[in-house]
Amino acid sequence: MKALLERYRDLLARDDESFPITLGEGGTPLIHARRLGAEMGLERLHLKFEGMNPTGSFKDRGMVLAVNRAVAGGARAIVCASTGNTSASAAAYAAAAGLPCHVILPAGKVARGKLAQALAAGARLIMVDGNFDAALSAVRRLGDEGVAVVVNSTNPDRLVGQQTGAFEIVDALGKAPDALALPVGNAGNITAYWQGFGRYADAGHTPDAKLPRMLGFQAEGAAPIVRGEPIEAPETVATAIRIGNPASWHGAVAARDQSGGLIETVTDDEILEAQRMVVQLEGVFCEPASAAGVAGVRRLAADRRIGPSEVVVCVLTGHGLKDPDVVQAEEGSLTPIPPGFAAIRDAMGL
Ligand code: F0G
Repeated sequence: MKALLERYRDLLARDDESFPITLGEGGTPLIHARRLGAEMGLERLHLKFEGMNPTGSFKDRGMVLAVNRAVAGGARAIVCASTGNTSASAAAYAAAAGLPCHVILPAGKVARGKLAQALAAGARLIMVDGNFDAALSAVRRLGDEGVAVVVNSTNPDRLVGQQTGAFEIVDALGKAPDALALPVGNAGNITAYWQGFGRYADAGHTPDAKLPRMLGFQAEGAAPIVRGEPIEAPETVATAIRIGNPASWHGAVAARDQSGGLIETVTDDEILEAQRMVVQLEGVFCEPASAAGVAGVRRLAADRRIGPSEVVVCVLTGHGLKDPDVVQAEEGSLTPIPPGFAAIRDAMGL
């Protein structure tokens, strides 16, 4: 398959721009969630599994464009603040580009797999005793002072690249879904998807030019947009969206209002329950933040705010392997038994 940026070149590229750096991002599966849908009373529920990107999250779609352009512009280093996935993606693309990469992370709040990814790829890690919002504000200043190219979603190339998620969904369904659900953290992705659906329709690539309702979900302890004010000390099990003052706040509100959609909260318990349901009913293992959109759709379907035959897509933003620590073993299931046939046969309980 052609590389993502080449595939949608007419909508992304400037003139004869070339994109030498690619890790095979995009082209992720859109999975018809039959069992999960049946459980929720939705016949046409789909999962866009962004965990299948090269570094296991949707960030690669925008990172590939941002890093290609950073290199073309003569950058000497890139930098980002991150709750984990942006840093994993930046580290990988910087490695492929031969660029130094600095990542500023909230100490103790980044999932183990994500930390390992950034370390393995040779990024310089700077852990701060503060949250993502504090780290991003320092990073913005580093960018303003020309120290390094910022590859957070404050970099417009990131959001342009992320629009490709919307393009792929329209290509796969032959039209836009009735509703698109996703988690909201720094609010870049909901902004990019909405812009992407709009651009694809304007370019004549969406047969009936219809646009979806955008359904965004924040964790209850990190829901600045829902509350209408920044949150000083955001907290949630879904560390990827542990953000109190999103950079793309206005973009998210525009996506919500222009699409006739909504942004609501889900609790940590609902998030973890949804994560379990997705993997145990569909075999798709996503990280907790990704399940926020599913948790929200589940509630809306139960409340009849989504109709049973509506086409609904939940974007599963990141892979479950990034955050293995949230998966709890059942009592006793990891306790060893003798290896003989009889004991094993007995333990199976069949
Ligand atoms: N899901 C996952 C898995 C994420 O990593 C993020 C954001 C989001 C959802 C929210 O997307 O910020 O565009 O609203 N992660 C960023 C990071 C903040 O640093 O990796 P958003």
